[in-house]
Amino acid sequence: MQRHDYSGADDLRAMQDLVQRTWSPRCRWHVGDVAWGRYAIPGAAAGFRTALWSDGDQVLGWGWAEVPGFLSWAVDPTRPDVATEVVAWFESVAECTERTTTVLQPEAHLVDALAAAGYSPDRAAPYFVHHHRALDDVEEPQLPDGFRLRHVEPGQSAARAAVHRAGWSDFGSRVSAESYAEVMAAWPYRPDLDWVVETDDGEWVASALGWLDDHNAVGLIEPVGCAPAYRRLGLARAANLAVLQAFRDAGAASALVGPRGDEAYPVPARLYRSIGFAPGARTVTYRRTG
Ligand SMILES: CC(C)(COP(=O)(O)OP(=O)(O)OC[C@H]1O[C@@H](n2cnc3c(N)ncnc32)[C@H](O)[C@@H]1OP(=O)(O)O)[C@@H](O)C(=O)NCCC(=O)NCCS
Repeated sequence: MQRHDYSGADDLRAMQDLVQRTWSPRCRWHVGDVAWGRYAIPGAAAGFRTALWSDGDQVLGWGWAEVPGFLSWAVDPTRPDVATEVVAWFESVAECTERTTTVLQPEAHLVDALAAAGYSPDRAAPYFVHHHRALDDVEEPQLPDGFRLRHVEPGQSAARAAVHRAGWSDFGSRVSAESYAEVMAAWPYRPDLDWVVETDDGEWVASALGWLDDHNAVGLIEPVGCAPAYRRLGLARAANLAVLQAFRDAGAASALVGPRGDEAYPVPARLYRSIGFAPGARTVTYRRTG
């Protein structure tokens, strides 16, 4: 087994290959949110420390530290020894006394490695719940008068980034035309899975980005947003249904979305449950201090 430091887009694709090869509803990562997480925030990569563990051509695990102290990671469940290696590496690159990571609760090989390294679950931390639905019977999107659905075209990263920022303005999103162009250039982005709601004046006001894992026939929706002035009109619901129909047309059998599950932020989960998603596994944050 070898370890090497991340050195560019080929390594991102290798990280996604591991996620795709080992994906199940019991896994934290989908190929889409790996791409989104790496590229969406301008300048974020300067704080990433990333390493990959492999055996020959096969990637067995990766660790992606956001300094000072947060770890994202994926490990082949048949290789719990690699999980131990990733945690030890993270301990060596973290730059603070309080280190955290988030896993999906069923990822026992990761939980075991964390417990052995002295991490404890943080029961008070916010968490996310993966929601799933089948795609054989997707309802038609409905919009109020004055709005229409369209998917993004290549070259529209500036408008697409702007509608994302509008939807996420409560949180101060920094997604830019340049960073969204990087998202659009990343595998497996497809403009026909990236949907917006447009007003009659041509303003984009709601959005939902879909990512297809064609090997597992599962689509991920990440992220979703609606500009505050246009909320509660059914626009996000329509954009999500448009993505679900596009997933189905592209050959997906099921879809996945991961809203917050804790009571501090319940609205997105209500939206997804209102269009047929059902809750599955939740995330758990683990923490080590000292
Ligand atoms: C979550 C968000 C996308 C909803 O957008 P929206 O266009 O207002 O949602 P819709 O009008 O399509 O609502 C669909 C359903 O979601 C639920 N919902 C939406 N907003 C709600 C609210 N404020 N309170 C309670 N339920 C709500 C309802 O079930 C609603 O159906 P109903 O209006 O028939 O009762 C929007 O609030 C937003 O952009 N938030 C910030 C970004 C974010 O959190 N994105 C999701 C992350 S997973």
